Amino acid sequence: MRIGVDYYPEHWPKERWLTDARLMKEAGFNVVRMGEFAWVFMEPEEGRYDFSLFDEALEILARHDIAAILGTPTGSMPAWVARKYPDCAAMKPDRQRRNWGIRKTNCFSSGTYRLLSERITRAMAEHFKNTPNVIGWQTDNEFDGNPCYCDSCRANFQDWCRAKYGTLDALNRAWGTHFWGHRYGAWNEITLPEEQHSYNPGLWLDWKRFNSWLQVQFQRDQVRILREVCPHHFVTHNTMSFHPSINYRDLCADLDFASWDNYPVFGPPQILYNAACAADLVRGFKQKNFWVMEQTAGPGGWGAFGRNPWPGEIRLIAYQQLAHGCDGMLWFNWRACTAGREQYWHGLLGHDGLPLRRYREAAQTAHEFRKLWPEVEGTTVRAPVAILYDYDSIFAQESQPSFENNTYIQDHLRRYYDALFRAGVNVDIVAPTADLSRYAVVIAPQLYVLPDATAHHLAEYVRKGGVLVADIRLGVKTETSLCHDRTLPGLLSDTLGIVIEEYESLTGIWGAKPSEYRVVGRRDISGTFTAFGFADWITPRGADVLAGYSDRWHMEPFAAATRHRSGNGWGYYVGTILREPEFYDQLIGDVLAKANVTGILRPPVGVEVSVREGAGKKLLFILNETEQEQTIAVPSGKRELLSGQLTESKLTLPRFGVAVVKLA
Ligand code: GLA
Ligand code: ZN
Repeated sequence: MRIGVDYYPEHWPKERWLTDARLMKEAGFNVVRMGEFAWVFMEPEEGRYDFSLFDEALEILARHDIAAILGTPTGSMPAWVARKYPDCAAMKPDRQRRNWGIRKTNCFSSGTYRLLSERITRAMAEHFKNTPNVIGWQTDNEFDGNPCYCDSCRANFQDWCRAKYGTLDALNRAWGTHFWGHRYGAWNEITLPEEQHSYNPGLWLDWKRFNSWLQVQFQRDQVRILREVCPHHFVTHNTMSFHPSINYRDLCADLDFASWDNYPVFGPPQILYNAACAADLVRGFKQKNFWVMEQTAGPGGWGAFGRNPWPGEIRLIAYQQLAHGCDGMLWFNWRACTAGREQYWHGLLGHDGLPLRRYREAAQTAHEFRKLWPEVEGTTVRAPVAILYDYDSIFAQESQPSFENNTYIQDHLRRYYDALFRAGVNVDIVAPTADLSRYAVVIAPQLYVLPDATAHHLAEYVRKGGVLVADIRLGVKTETSLCHDRTLPGLLSDTLGIVIEEYESLTGIWGAKPSEYRVVGRRDISGTFTAFGFADWITPRGADVLAGYSDRWHMEPFAAATRHRSGNGWGYYVGTILREPEFYDQLIGDVLAKANVTGILRPPVGVEVSVREGAGKKLLFILNETEQEQTIAVPSGKRELLSGQLTESKLTLPRFGVAVVKLA
């Protein structure tokens, strides 16, 4: 297994490099990532290349059996680029160029920037193609889909629209430009939405797609060169998992595997739902195992910074990623730098460069991972449940969230995810168009943009025996963000056995006080719950009512949550948001029972389980994410790989402790 650190030899005097390499080797590290911000060292002036700094560093690392991933350095342009070529700088909506002096300030459609990007990529690839310890590449750094409003981007967007729609008639129909008389009579009239609130929703959605596409193209130009010159190297990119402005599935289609940067929020100790969920999303980008290219190594922040990972937490968050299908991991970063904006983004080593507690914990983890690797290699997560994650719906909802504080990613999807986590069931997070036949359960939170083909795909899934859980804002929009002209939930009405003739936001607008409804369990769900945010007024057409609205006379006829037998499967619908996690625990319990899915064990609260399997092997990871000792009922007579002991019927884990039980 590849495990190591993000390393910046350009930050340190050469005399230190040998010490760094020696300490890394002693820690059990065998890989570094380098170079992603070092463009100016490799091309100090246009067309003059100098790779000597990295040649020397690579040579020292090689002597210590440490391999390297090189970053194409286009995430941070040299000063000479900005000085010579002002068109490389992105424009803000007010048409001011972005200032040089931070990073990621480039325009992605600038022909100059694209040419410079191809040149440095090719020069690096040619130079390092035969360097024995270079094993792969990271493109750029954290593509984010952020827009630029320059003339070049505008012309490119207009071309993109022409290529997509062919005729202005088709575009005008697709976007519904009859509204406000915004019909286009020429391609170069197409405007750029400067903000998300006031422009045509079809224009907005395509603008988001375009900006995502533009960065995918930019990366593709680099990938093409890397594949041509270095066919034996892998190519990946460090995504930001749930970052909502770029379609990482498209971006990763050109890569060998997906990677991500894991910075859990270190507040008071909490169950690590978020990093688990992000890992499952990233694994879904290519539906295969992934790497963590930047793993939290210490307190992080650019001005104020967060808390220190407590003893055991560096190891715990590393095991969590391994448990979710991580096959390579690098800590960000090796050593806190004494200069620059990230002085306080602490590394495994502090400013003093001494190998202290954080280093030792990472070293222990690395040694354990490498020892476990023969058991882990070739295994992955085979989840029985999928959650659908749809970029079009996220892009479209950014401009029309339907109700205030509609926090889809941080909260909404997580209501279902967290309940599955608590039930001890692994989850895949995939596109609505993915092959769903392998999943017993599919959950579709706020699947807002729903082309007819996808609706048929979901209906077919249920007909053949799948269990579908859908909820609010399902199928409101067409592929071009027009409202479907059908009674909701449109083509899925029969599958779900309901109609929704009316609905409302409960958050209100213009300063209205938010309202709430009481919801009571009626069948297979029991208790009283609080509905907030949004309410569908659901009329069952054959569906069972699992929960209904109870405290307001006008809501009594309507259902809040339903379940319907359809074909060989089941269609569930949740028409509101419930404050109490208990609701989702009961719902997921019923769903899993209908789908005949059982977790290997039901963990105590704060204990996470995840299974990796494949190549005839099956490993159960158990993670104690609490500060208390936890005792977990486990299958007995199995080998726990870290202690080497056979399990009894109960296993006790210390605070932040982990176990890896070999089930097969
Ligand atoms: C991101 C970047 C790194 C570094 C860290 C910490 O993940 O990829 O270069 O900036 O954040 O700020
Ligand atoms: Zn631009």
